[in-house]
Amino acid sequence: MDLKELIIREKLPRHIAIIMDGNGRWATSRGNMRVFGHQNGVESVRQTVEAAGELGVEYLTLYAFSTENWNRPRSEVDALMGLMVNAIQDETENLHKNNVRLSAIGELDDLPENVRKQLQSAIDYTAQNTGLNLVIALSYSGRWEITSAIKKIVEDVKSGNLDAETINSCLLETYLNTYTIPDPELLIRTSGERRISNFMLWQLAYTELYFTPVLWPDFRKKDLYEAIIDFQRRDRRFGRVKEQAKAVTVNN
Ligand code: IPE
Ligand code: IPE
Ligand code: MG
Repeated sequence: MDLKELIIREKLPRHIAIIMDGNGRWATSRGNMRVFGHQNGVESVRQTVEAAGELGVEYLTLYAFSTENWNRPRSEVDALMGLMVNAIQDETENLHKNNVRLSAIGELDDLPENVRKQLQSAIDYTAQNTGLNLVIALSYSGRWEITSAIKKIVEDVKSGNLDAETINSCLLETYLNTYTIPDPELLIRTSGERRISNFMLWQLAYTELYFTPVLWPDFRKKDLYEAIIDFQRRDRRFGRVKEQAKAVTVNN
Protein backbone atom coordinates (compact mmCIF):
# COMPACT_ATOMS: atom_id res chain seq x y z
CA MET A 1 0.00 0.00 0.00
CA ASP A 2 1.10 3.53 -0.77
CA LEU A 3 2.52 5.16 2.38
CA LYS A 4 0.64 8.34 1.56
CA GLU A 5 -2.66 6.49 2.06
CA LEU A 6 -1.71 5.79 5.68
CA ILE A 7 -1.61 9.48 6.54
CA ILE A 8 -4.66 10.65 8.47
CA ARG A 9 -5.58 13.90 6.76
CA GLU A 10 -7.45 15.27 9.80
CA LYS A 11 -4.31 14.87 11.95
CA LEU A 12 -1.75 16.51 9.69
CA PRO A 13 0.87 18.58 11.50
CA ARG A 14 0.15 22.22 10.71
CA HIS A 15 3.84 23.04 10.73
CA ILE A 16 6.75 20.74 9.89
CA ALA A 17 10.32 21.95 10.38
CA ILE A 18 13.33 20.17 8.91
CA ILE A 19 17.04 20.28 9.74
CA MET A 20 18.39 19.28 6.34
CA ASP A 21 21.61 17.55 7.31
CA GLY A 22 24.10 15.15 5.74
CA ASN A 23 24.93 16.78 2.40
CA GLY A 24 28.67 16.71 3.05
CA ARG A 25 28.73 13.05 4.08
CA TRP A 26 26.57 12.11 1.10
CA ALA A 27 29.13 13.67 -1.24
CA THR A 28 32.34 12.53 0.44
CA SER A 29 31.11 8.93 0.65
CA ARG A 30 30.91 9.10 -3.15
CA GLY A 31 34.40 10.59 -3.42
CA ASN A 32 33.05 14.02 -4.31
CA MET A 33 33.45 17.52 -2.92
CA ARG A 34 31.00 18.56 -0.19
CA VAL A 35 29.37 21.10 -2.48
CA PHE A 36 28.18 18.23 -4.69
CA GLY A 37 26.05 17.14 -1.75
CA HIS A 38 24.57 20.61 -1.36
CA GLN A 39 23.76 20.67 -5.09
CA ASN A 40 21.98 17.34 -4.82
CA GLY A 41 20.06 18.53 -1.78
CA VAL A 42 18.11 20.91 -3.98
CA GLU A 43 16.11 18.04 -5.50
CA SER A 44 15.20 16.89 -1.98
CA VAL A 45 13.94 20.39 -1.20
CA ARG A 46 11.86 20.34 -4.39
CA GLN A 47 10.30 16.98 -3.53
CA THR A 48 9.65 17.85 0.10
CA VAL A 49 8.00 21.16 -0.75
CA GLU A 50 5.84 19.45 -3.37
CA ALA A 51 4.83 16.64 -1.00
CA ALA A 52 3.99 19.01 1.84
CA GLY A 53 1.93 21.19 -0.51
CA GLU A 54 0.05 18.22 -1.95
CA LEU A 55 -0.82 16.95 1.51
CA GLY A 56 -2.09 20.34 2.64
CA VAL A 57 0.52 21.07 5.31
CA GLU A 58 0.24 24.78 6.17
CA TYR A 59 3.85 25.60 7.11
CA LEU A 60 7.15 24.02 6.17
CA THR A 61 10.34 25.49 7.63
CA LEU A 62 13.66 24.40 6.16
CA TYR A 63 16.91 25.06 8.02
CA ALA A 64 19.24 25.95 5.16
CA PHE A 65 22.10 27.80 6.86
CA SER A 66 22.81 28.39 10.54
CA THR A 67 24.56 31.26 12.28
CA GLU A 68 27.36 28.80 13.07
CA ASN A 69 27.65 27.71 9.43
CA TRP A 70 29.37 31.08 8.73
CA ASN A 71 32.39 29.47 10.44
CA ARG A 72 32.80 26.88 7.69
CA PRO A 73 35.65 27.26 5.19
CA ARG A 74 35.14 30.34 3.04
CA SER A 75 34.99 28.24 -0.13
CA GLU A 76 32.07 26.20 1.20
CA VAL A 77 30.19 29.28 2.43
CA ASP A 78 30.65 30.93 -0.97
CA ALA A 79 29.52 27.81 -2.78
CA LEU A 80 26.43 27.56 -0.57
CA MET A 81 25.53 31.19 -1.14
CA GLY A 82 25.97 30.79 -4.90
CA LEU A 83 23.79 27.71 -4.82
CA MET A 84 21.17 29.58 -2.83
CA VAL A 85 20.94 32.32 -5.47
CA ASN A 86 20.62 29.80 -8.30
CA ALA A 87 18.12 27.61 -6.47
CA ILE A 88 15.87 30.54 -5.60
CA GLN A 89 16.10 31.86 -9.15
CA ASP A 90 15.35 28.47 -10.70
CA GLU A 91 12.56 27.50 -8.33
CA THR A 92 10.56 30.70 -7.91
CA GLU A 93 8.28 30.17 -10.91
CA ASN A 94 7.61 26.59 -9.89
CA LEU A 95 6.82 27.63 -6.31
CA HIS A 96 4.46 30.25 -7.64
CA LYS A 97 2.69 27.75 -9.91
CA ASN A 98 2.19 25.53 -6.86
CA ASN A 99 0.66 28.42 -4.91
CA VAL A 100 3.56 28.37 -2.40
CA ARG A 101 4.22 31.52 -0.38
CA LEU A 102 7.89 32.00 0.47
CA SER A 103 9.27 33.76 3.52
CA ALA A 104 12.57 33.75 5.40
CA ILE A 105 13.76 33.92 8.99
CA GLY A 106 17.26 34.73 10.21
CA GLU A 107 19.82 37.51 10.17
CA LEU A 108 19.20 38.28 6.51
CA ASP A 109 21.34 41.44 6.67
CA ASP A 110 24.39 39.19 6.96
CA LEU A 111 23.71 37.53 3.60
CA PRO A 112 25.56 38.66 0.47
CA GLU A 113 23.58 41.27 -1.40
CA ASN A 114 22.81 39.04 -4.39
CA VAL A 115 21.29 36.39 -2.11
CA ARG A 116 19.26 38.98 -0.23
CA LYS A 117 17.93 40.52 -3.45
CA GLN A 118 17.07 37.20 -5.05
CA LEU A 119 15.35 36.07 -1.89
CA GLN A 120 13.39 39.30 -1.53
CA SER A 121 12.21 39.18 -5.13
CA ALA A 122 10.99 35.58 -4.66
CA ILE A 123 9.24 36.56 -1.43
CA ASP A 124 7.53 39.48 -3.17
CA TYR A 125 6.63 37.39 -6.21
CA THR A 126 4.87 34.73 -4.16
CA ALA A 127 3.41 37.03 -1.50
CA GLN A 128 -0.22 36.65 -2.58
CA ASN A 129 -0.17 32.85 -2.75
CA THR A 130 -2.48 30.96 -0.44
CA GLY A 131 -1.08 27.40 -0.38
CA LEU A 132 1.91 26.09 1.56
CA ASN A 133 3.89 28.65 3.55
CA LEU A 134 7.53 27.80 2.91
CA VAL A 135 9.86 29.37 5.46
CA ILE A 136 13.61 29.29 4.78
CA ALA A 137 15.83 29.68 7.84
CA LEU A 138 18.97 31.41 6.58
CA SER A 139 21.74 32.72 8.78
CA TYR A 140 19.37 31.68 11.54
CA SER A 141 19.87 30.36 15.04
CA GLY A 142 17.54 30.12 17.99
CA ARG A 143 19.89 31.94 20.35
CA TRP A 144 20.37 34.78 17.85
CA GLU A 145 16.59 35.07 17.48
CA ILE A 146 15.89 35.14 21.24
CA THR A 147 18.74 37.57 21.87
CA SER A 148 17.43 39.89 19.14
CA ALA A 149 13.95 39.71 20.64
CA ILE A 150 15.27 40.68 24.07
CA LYS A 151 17.20 43.61 22.60
CA LYS A 152 14.05 44.91 20.88
CA ILE A 153 12.01 44.49 24.06
CA VAL A 154 14.58 46.47 26.02
CA GLU A 155 14.51 49.24 23.38
CA ASP A 156 10.72 49.42 23.58
CA VAL A 157 10.77 49.54 27.37
CA LYS A 158 13.42 52.28 27.33
CA SER A 159 11.52 54.38 24.81
CA GLY A 160 8.32 54.05 26.81
CA ASN A 161 6.46 52.01 24.17
CA LEU A 162 6.30 48.93 26.36
CA ASP A 163 5.45 48.49 30.01
CA ALA A 164 7.94 46.01 31.52
CA GLU A 165 5.12 44.66 33.73
CA THR A 166 3.38 43.26 30.64
CA ILE A 167 6.29 41.03 29.57
CA ASN A 168 5.26 37.38 29.47
CA SER A 169 5.84 34.47 27.09
CA CYS A 170 3.03 35.58 24.72
CA LEU A 171 4.55 39.04 24.51
CA LEU A 172 8.03 37.67 23.90
CA GLU A 173 6.70 35.56 21.02
CA THR A 174 5.56 38.68 19.21
CA TYR A 175 9.21 39.78 19.09
CA LEU A 176 10.43 36.56 17.47
CA ASN A 177 11.00 36.18 13.71
CA THR A 178 8.25 33.56 13.71
CA TYR A 179 5.53 35.64 15.36
CA THR A 180 2.98 34.93 12.60
CA ILE A 181 3.82 31.23 12.40
CA PRO A 182 2.48 28.49 14.70
CA ASP A 183 5.11 26.43 16.54
CA PRO A 184 6.25 23.34 14.61
CA GLU A 185 4.39 20.20 15.58
CA LEU A 186 6.95 17.93 13.94
CA LEU A 187 10.71 18.41 13.62
CA ILE A 188 12.61 16.14 11.26
CA ARG A 189 16.40 15.90 11.28
CA THR A 190 18.13 13.84 8.64
CA SER A 191 21.58 12.21 8.64
CA GLY A 192 21.32 10.34 11.95
CA GLU A 193 22.41 13.24 14.16
CA ARG A 194 20.22 13.62 17.22
CA ARG A 195 20.58 17.24 18.13
CA ILE A 196 18.87 20.56 17.61
CA SER A 197 21.97 22.57 16.57
CA ASN A 198 20.53 25.92 17.69
CA PHE A 199 17.35 25.63 15.62
CA MET A 200 14.06 27.20 16.82
CA LEU A 201 14.94 26.81 20.49
CA TRP A 202 11.86 28.66 21.69
CA GLN A 203 9.40 27.20 19.20
CA LEU A 204 10.41 23.55 19.69
CA ALA A 205 9.26 23.47 23.32
CA TYR A 206 6.54 20.88 22.63
CA THR A 207 7.49 19.70 19.15
CA GLU A 208 7.67 15.99 18.35
CA LEU A 209 11.21 15.13 17.26
CA TYR A 210 11.88 12.66 14.45
CA PHE A 211 15.39 11.54 13.56
CA THR A 212 16.15 9.56 10.42
CA PRO A 213 19.48 8.17 9.18
CA VAL A 214 18.60 9.18 5.62
CA LEU A 215 21.07 11.77 4.34
CA TRP A 216 19.38 14.93 3.04
CA PRO A 217 20.22 14.42 -0.68
CA ASP A 218 18.48 11.02 -0.46
CA PHE A 219 15.35 12.40 1.25
CA ARG A 220 12.24 11.84 -0.86
CA LYS A 221 8.47 12.17 -0.54
CA LYS A 222 8.16 8.75 1.06
CA ASP A 223 10.57 9.82 3.82
CA LEU A 224 8.31 12.76 4.63
CA TYR A 225 5.28 10.45 4.67
CA GLU A 226 7.08 8.09 7.08
CA ALA A 227 7.85 10.94 9.45
CA ILE A 228 4.24 12.15 9.41
CA ILE A 229 2.89 8.63 10.02
CA ASP A 230 5.26 8.25 12.98
CA PHE A 231 4.12 11.64 14.31
CA GLN A 232 0.47 10.63 14.04
CA ARG A 233 1.06 7.61 16.27
CA ARG A 234 2.41 9.67 19.15
CA ASP A 235 0.65 10.81 22.28
CA ARG A 236 1.03 14.54 22.78
CA ARG A 237 0.30 15.52 26.36
CA PHE A 238 1.64 19.07 26.80
CA GLY A 239 2.39 18.43 30.46
CA ARG A 240 -1.10 17.13 31.20
CA VAL A 241 -2.44 13.61 31.66
CA LYS A 242 -3.53 11.70 28.60
CA GLU A 243 -7.30 12.17 29.02
CA GLN A 244 -7.02 15.93 29.36
CA ALA A 245 -4.51 16.31 26.56
CA LYS A 246 -6.90 14.90 23.95
CA ALA A 247 -8.86 18.12 24.16
CA VAL A 248 -5.87 20.44 24.06
CA THR A 249 -3.48 21.78 21.50
CA VAL A 250 -0.69 23.78 22.99
CA ASN A 251 -0.54 26.69 20.61
CA ASN A 252 -2.67 28.53 18.09
C1 IPE B 1 23.65 20.23 5.74
O1 IPE B 1 24.62 19.32 5.36
C2 IPE B 1 23.73 21.53 4.98
C3 IPE B 1 24.19 22.68 5.78
C4 IPE B 1 24.46 22.66 7.05
C5 IPE B 1 24.35 23.93 5.09
P1 IPE B 1 26.09 19.37 5.95
O2 IPE B 1 26.91 20.27 5.09
O3 IPE B 1 26.06 19.72 7.38
O4 IPE B 1 26.55 17.87 5.76
P2 IPE B 1 27.32 16.96 6.82
O5 IPE B 1 26.54 17.02 8.09
O6 IPE B 1 28.68 17.54 6.96
O7 IPE B 1 27.32 15.61 6.21
C1 IPE C 1 22.54 22.21 11.18
O1 IPE C 1 23.44 21.34 10.59
C2 IPE C 1 22.30 23.42 10.33
C3 IPE C 1 21.62 23.19 9.06
C4 IPE C 1 21.16 22.06 8.61
C5 IPE C 1 21.44 24.36 8.26
P1 IPE C 1 25.00 21.35 10.96
O2 IPE C 1 25.62 20.28 10.16
O3 IPE C 1 25.54 22.72 10.80
O4 IPE C 1 24.97 21.00 12.52
P2 IPE C 1 26.07 20.31 13.43
O5 IPE C 1 27.34 21.08 13.24
O6 IPE C 1 26.23 18.90 12.95
O7 IPE C 1 25.51 20.37 14.80
MG1 MG D 1 25.88 18.67 9.09
